[in-house]
Amino acid sequence: MRVGLLGLGRIGAFHAATLAAHPLVDELIVADPVRTSPHGRPGDPFQADAVVIATPTGTHAELIIKACDRGIPAFCEKPVASTVAETVKVLQTAAGNRVQVGFQRRFDPGYVAAAHALRAGELGELHRVHLVTADPAPPPAAYLPLSGGIYRDCHIHDFDALRWVTGREVVSVYARGANRGAAFFAEAGDVDTSAALLALDDGTLATLQGSRYNGGGYDVRMELAGTKRTQAVGLGPRAPLHTTEALPPGSGAPWPDFVSRFETAYRAEIDAFLRGGTNPCTIEDALEALYVAEAADLSLREGRPVEVAEVRH
Ligand SMILES: NC(=O)c1ccc[n+]([C@@H]2O[C@H](COP(=O)([O-])OP(=O)(O)OC[C@H]3O[C@@H](n4cnc5c(N)ncnc54)[C@H](O)[C@@H]3O)[C@@H](O)[C@H]2O)c1
Repeated sequence: MRVGLLGLGRIGAFHAATLAAHPLVDELIVADPVRTSPHGRPGDPFQADAVVIATPTGTHAELIIKACDRGIPAFCEKPVASTVAETVKVLQTAAGNRVQVGFQRRFDPGYVAAAHALRAGELGELHRVHLVTADPAPPPAAYLPLSGGIYRDCHIHDFDALRWVTGREVVSVYARGANRGAAFFAEAGDVDTSAALLALDDGTLATLQGSRYNGGGYDVRMELAGTKRTQAVGLGPRAPLHTTEALPPGSGAPWPDFVSRFETAYRAEIDAFLRGGTNPCTIEDALEALYVAEAADLSLREGRPVEVAEVRH
């Protein structure tokens, strides 16, 4: 098949290599106003059998709608759009067209194993969840004003993982934030440090922490505490976490970035997209995660707990 790819930045460059090496892909057509790729030829990416969108968030909605108008299946990086209204519009326009959203943690072996263990009853009844996403260094200052803020840009992955692994919906969020680093976060109306308390619809409580300044490495973890067992995801030798006990975490080279940490998952989500079948991550899923991010952002701004129902359209 012929595949079009838009955007050759941090994540698009990685998808280009995955697509070019995939046995189902005969030709890769790439488009980016400022970058080229050794893996594809420049051209019109919509003259293809499927399209992968890895452009800045603000362009996603228009490009997904273009793919739908042409009847081409689309894989789009998260988020579908930075506002709920735009996401709902895309959802309505895309009805009937395959649009897979890039929440790659659904393909990470650790998250998959935790979801299976919970479903199989190995953890007993789930009572508590803890989530962490911490970047080693901030993105470029120019990225922030268009990113939607730390909850929509970064923690949307945690919100999706929380829904997907537990099979529950988030009903309320109390989110805080702090600025401990460069002034450009506050100038963009954003925070570089985050902490939130979330309640799920079965009464399970979840806590979330994040940072754009985790100098020790790229730290993404999830803990699920049940009545029978507590399951950790991401607490391997490469977890950038040191312990005073003689335990394995922190004994290997720390994950430097999201590409190396989720390499297998990024390849697996593209493979699932190319092979078709049941859509593993729909626009409806992306909208649910965005509602939680929206509630978190409102909570951060107003300094109060927010019911997710308040931001639903
Ligand atoms: N799933 C993940 O873990 C993950 C990780 C990083 C980024 N992302 C998402 O991927 C998207 C891109 O992020 P990034 O960090 O790679 O950004 P980036 O700024 O590094 O790259 C974006 C690229 O898109 C190009 N571009 C802009 N408009 C275009 C257009 N209309 N057509 C073609 N190319 C265009 C830019 O020139 C740039 O090269 C964002 O929406 C981000 O949220 C997801």
